[in-house]
Amino acid sequence: MKQNNWIPRKDSPGKRAVLLTGGAGFIGSHTYVALKQAGYEVIIVDNFSNALEDTPERLQQLTGSKVICYADDLLDRSAIRRIFDNHPIDAVIHFAAKKSVAESTTAPLVYYENNVSGLIGLLEEMRRASVFNLVFSSSATVYGSPETLPVRENAALSSTNPYGFTKLVCENVLSDLQKFDPRWNVGILRYFNPVGAHSSGLIGESTTGIPDNLMPYIAKVATGELPFLRVFGADYDTLDGTGVRDYIHVMDLAEGHVLSLEELLDGAGSHIVNLGTGRGYSVLEMLKSYETACGRTLPYQVMPRRPGDVGEVVADPANANALLGFEAKRDLDHMSKTSWNWMLQRMD
Ligand code: UFG
Repeated sequence: MKQNNWIPRKDSPGKRAVLLTGGAGFIGSHTYVALKQAGYEVIIVDNFSNALEDTPERLQQLTGSKVICYADDLLDRSAIRRIFDNHPIDAVIHFAAKKSVAESTTAPLVYYENNVSGLIGLLEEMRRASVFNLVFSSSATVYGSPETLPVRENAALSSTNPYGFTKLVCENVLSDLQKFDPRWNVGILRYFNPVGAHSSGLIGESTTGIPDNLMPYIAKVATGELPFLRVFGADYDTLDGTGVRDYIHVMDLAEGHVLSLEELLDGAGSHIVNLGTGRGYSVLEMLKSYETACGRTLPYQVMPRRPGDVGEVVADPANANALLGFEAKRDLDHMSKTSWNWMLQRMD
């Protein structure tokens, strides 16, 4: 396993500076904390379309240092250019994108504009500023309906919805960029199902509206905001018939970004890796774990399968382990507990 051996550059012995696009969002804010813990200087740019306004103050409270945050949209090129002009940046971690499968089918152009045009504009500004290190948020969605499990990075890529296609297009853009311009170092991270929250309860997933994803939905059943969980299908070929996914704690995911970044800054080169645990849980197992965390039974009803869903998706995390030394450390118990703790803090 590769050891975590980042050392400051000789020509710039200070802290390395990282720009986080979408850094006030769910995964971005947790990655902010992990980067600060690892000694990085971090600059956030976020348009707050899917982030809580008080996230920068909460990050300040959590890390004990001033948060540099620009409330700008990635599509506003002059605003992004100003950030690169104002800060010497060594690398970018690019989270800012839209991520709802359902919404992408009703507004595909919004998805292509935000996710694809957003990335291209960012890459152009990076090139202008001579910043060539990028960690990119991709998703297990690029595997479509995987033919073999656990899914390895060399599995066939496909998609059934505009959101998934935007991730595929972005991966292609990045692969061409590295192929034809060797200055670029890119870490493509394919996330499985991120859940949980920071153990402080100060940051977590924004909970406005009716969630698409399982754990935020269960969380709202637990608070009483939603009456029951709709279990989408109990007739899959899985242990209890409900869908199985590879849930990964958001702090494990965040630490995966730090490892990917260090690989790039060490000059070890580009990589594409799955970030998952390699262990799947069913919808009913997730519900049970959340019941333990919140201390009560949660109602559910079995409904028909959700269109586009597959029975089981589980990562093969071997590549992330071999290349980055990545290993998910937090278990399901911790995922549910920290999610519930975050919900309780938001209700205060
Ligand atoms: N589920 C329910 N009820 C709900 C929500 C989900 O039963 O209210 C079930 C789903 O049917 C599935 C499992 O819970 O079996 C997980 O569903 P999520 O919506 O939480 O996650 P998905 O795996 O469907 O989707 C996630 C991301 C997508 C990404 C996809 C690809 O949310 O952005 O993984 O791996 F595209």
